[in-house]
Amino acid sequence: MSQINELETQTLAAIEGAQDEAALEQVRVASLGKKGTITALLATLGKMSPEERKSAGAAINALKDKVNEALLARRTIVKGAALEARLKSESVDVTLPVREAPIETGRIHPISQVMDELTAIFADMGFSIAEGPDIESDDYNFTKLNFPLGHPAREMHDTFFFNPGADGERKLLRTHTSPVQVRTMLNAKPPIRVICPGRTYRCDSDQTHTPMFHQVEGLVIDKSAHMGHLKWILEEFCKAFFEVPSVKMRFRPSFFPFTEPSMEVDIQCRRSGGEIRFGEGEDWLEILGCGMVHPNVLRNCGVDPDEYQGFAWGMGIDRIAMLKYGMPDLRAFFEADMRWLSHYGFRPLDLPTLAGGLSS
Ligand code: DAH
Repeated sequence: MSQINELETQTLAAIEGAQDEAALEQVRVASLGKKGTITALLATLGKMSPEERKSAGAAINALKDKVNEALLARRTIVKGAALEARLKSESVDVTLPVREAPIETGRIHPISQVMDELTAIFADMGFSIAEGPDIESDDYNFTKLNFPLGHPAREMHDTFFFNPGADGERKLLRTHTSPVQVRTMLNAKPPIRVICPGRTYRCDSDQTHTPMFHQVEGLVIDKSAHMGHLKWILEEFCKAFFEVPSVKMRFRPSFFPFTEPSMEVDIQCRRSGGEIRFGEGEDWLEILGCGMVHPNVLRNCGVDPDEYQGFAWGMGIDRIAMLKYGMPDLRAFFEADMRWLSHYGFRPLDLPTLAGGLSS
């Protein structure tokens, strides 16, 4: 009997100790196989007396059942462990590596950059931003700005007109940002100090003209705004924008229906070897139109010219961007060519500020 107990203890311990299916199979063969220990024990039954056989037979068969059960239970455990180990070692990483951050590849268009730069400069002088729609009425684009009906200046603008609407009104794509002056004066009480950057449209296309281009308008209205202020503002702007310690400017008499007197402004520069430099040289380059707001315009916009006066200017953004960053062909601005954009574009997180630098 004690032999049976000993065998049971040994076999069950061997089963518990088996770490994988192969080891477990070895234990099974060693105990229940043809030459196994339990099989050998069963073979001894034939030589026993019937009484002995009865009790020994029952005990050996009970042992056989116990071992079979333990083998089955252990097999389930080692199989499970094997599966888990396999899953761990054979797992596949289906995630993609993180792409390079977009700040490394995306670029800010030079027009957006220049708009941010001039916004920073004028905001520092206390100007706010005003905006208006690209599709404008004839009234705001021309009439309220003192363009008489049939005046040749209307034709000079090469206007894109829409077909007349049901009410007979003919809308247009604004030819300049000056109608935003009208909208501002109609909606706000003086004192007014705004700049109005935005898209403008004229039927024109060559190396320095595109049908869509950008302007920034400036408007100052109060009781004593005068040309001295205008001159100072434009000079400070040019110095800050072109990042030079001084700029010489030249004011030439000109004509715009909405200003009286009207002037065009040139800045001093030097052209050499296809390059242009500001703050030095003997050449002059026209950059903007300006003047004192015409009393008719003030009146048309609900401002009393006996109480208020002011000045305005309009400047081509694309033009000053080409000058500052040495881009020779305006048409390339709007071709969305990635090579051009990555060469002339700006890094998105380098925000232009007067304190931190505009273009660096
Ligand atoms: N609107 C004019 C143009 O597009 C530019 C301009 C000139 C605007 C004089 C002004 C100004 O506000 O006073 O040619």
